Parts: sequence; C-alpha cells; structure tokens
Amino acid sequence: MDKEISQAVIRRMPRYYRYLGELIDAGVERISSGDLSSRMNVTASQIRQDLNNFGGFGQQGYGYNVKYLYDEIGKILGLGEKHSIIIIGAGNLGQALANYVEFEKFGFAITALFDINPALKGRQVRGIAIHMIEELEAFTKEHPVDIAALTLPKSKAEAMASQLAGLGITAIWNFAHVDLDLAGQNVLVENVHLSDSLMQLSYNIAKDKPRHAAPQ
Ligand code: NAI
Repeated sequence: MDKEISQAVIRRMPRYYRYLGELIDAGVERISSGDLSSRMNVTASQIRQDLNNFGGFGQQGYGYNVKYLYDEIGKILGLGEKHSIIIIGAGNLGQALANYVEFEKFGFAITALFDINPALKGRQVRGIAIHMIEELEAFTKEHPVDIAALTLPKSKAEAMASQLAGLGITAIWNFAHVDLDLAGQNVLVENVHLSDSLMQLSYNIAKDKPRHAAPQ
C-alpha cells in the first residue's frame, strides 16, 4: 500500500469488519452506506471517507457488496494471514486469553504459554502447553512466533519485552499496566487496558448523575 493510512481509520476497521460479519450471518448481500451508517451510528460520509482510503469498494446506486467488503477489510487488516501468538504469564488473564477460541476464527492461533511458576509446568490450557520461561528461546527458534501477549506483572513487562525483541519477536500485545519504552528496538506494541474503558464508563455514569447539592 503506497499511502500511509491514519491509525484513527485503522482503529475503526475492526468495527466495520464485525458489523459486516454480522450482516453476512444474517444473509444480507448488499448494503448502502446510509444503511450501514445507521446500523453503526457513524455518518455515511465517514464510512465513504474511511473506505476511500482503500480505494472505495462501493458503487453509486448499488451500495456495498457485503461479502466483498468484508473480505477486503479482512485483507487490509492482515487477517488472511495466520498469526501465531505466545502468551507470557499463564495466570488468570493469560489463561483466559488462551481459553478464548474466537481469535482462531480471525487467523490468530495461540501456540504456547510461558510462566515462571513451577507449579504450572506441564499443564495445559485448552490443549495448549504451558512452558517454563527458560524454554522461551528454544521455542522461538523452533516455532514461528508473530505476536507475544504480555500478561505478567507490570514490573516484569519491560525486561520481557526487550528479551522478546532480542529473540526477533516484533509485535507485542501488552496487557501489563505499563507504557513500554522500547525506543530503538524495532517492536510494534498494542496496549490493551480494560481499566481505561471502565474509567470512561465511570466518567459517563458520573456525568449523567445529578450532582449532590452543595451543603447550605
Ligand atoms: P496473575 O498473577 O494471575 O498472573 C500473572 C502470571 O505471570 C503468574 O502466573 C506469574 O507466575 C507469571 N509471571 C510472573 N513473572 C513472570 C515472568 N518473568 N515470566 C513469565 N511469567 C511470569 O495476574 P493476572 O490477573 O493474570 O494479571 C496479569 C497482568 O495483566 C497483570 O500485570 C495485571 O495488572 C494485568 N491485567 C491487565 C488488564 C488489562 O486490561 N490490561 C486486565 C487484567 C489484568
């Protein structure tokens, strides 16, 4: 792709993809940008602008072919390729991620978990082995790893991210509550902080509540 697409547009793409997937499941073959816009609560012009970044896809008077658009957005998001994920930290969150089967639908396969806790040695989550962290280097030499999910304590996250970069892993899906500083290392980081979204919700709850009257 020649043109640099803004991250704001990229961030909206998974939502288009999800809605289009639901339309396919509902047997809808084509949709106008107006219809898609009212379902998604995004303006029709925003949809057209977003999709024009990738060459349009729509036809005047016809709208969008749902399956075609779904497939094209999937390609834009790189979902046609298989991605292997390892999880570092096989605690509550790491195991919950490993237990979630839907990632596989989009081509993401969790291939191993790693931990330092010897009590987890030899255990499996949904058939996926938990390895001891000492085995990480050998594992990455033998198996392709595209993404490492960090679900370990935040105090360990940065050192682990550097180690992963040293092993040639260039994409980190970071759940530890820390802004990773990986300057100079060629690593892509995507941070996921559920608490940020919860705080936004909390703000909106507070905003809608009448304020307590000031004491007289
Ligand atoms: P947990 O304590 O259940 O699991 C952490 C695991 O990491 C443990 O099994 C521990 O043995 C392992 N570990 C510690 N040091 C390690 C190392 N150097 N290498 C490999 N494994 C190591 O904790 P939980 O609840 O699963 O949370 C994990 C992390 O995710 C924490 O940092 C937590 O703050 C964060 N978190 C983030 C959320 C988010 O939305 N981003 C939501 C929930 C938790």
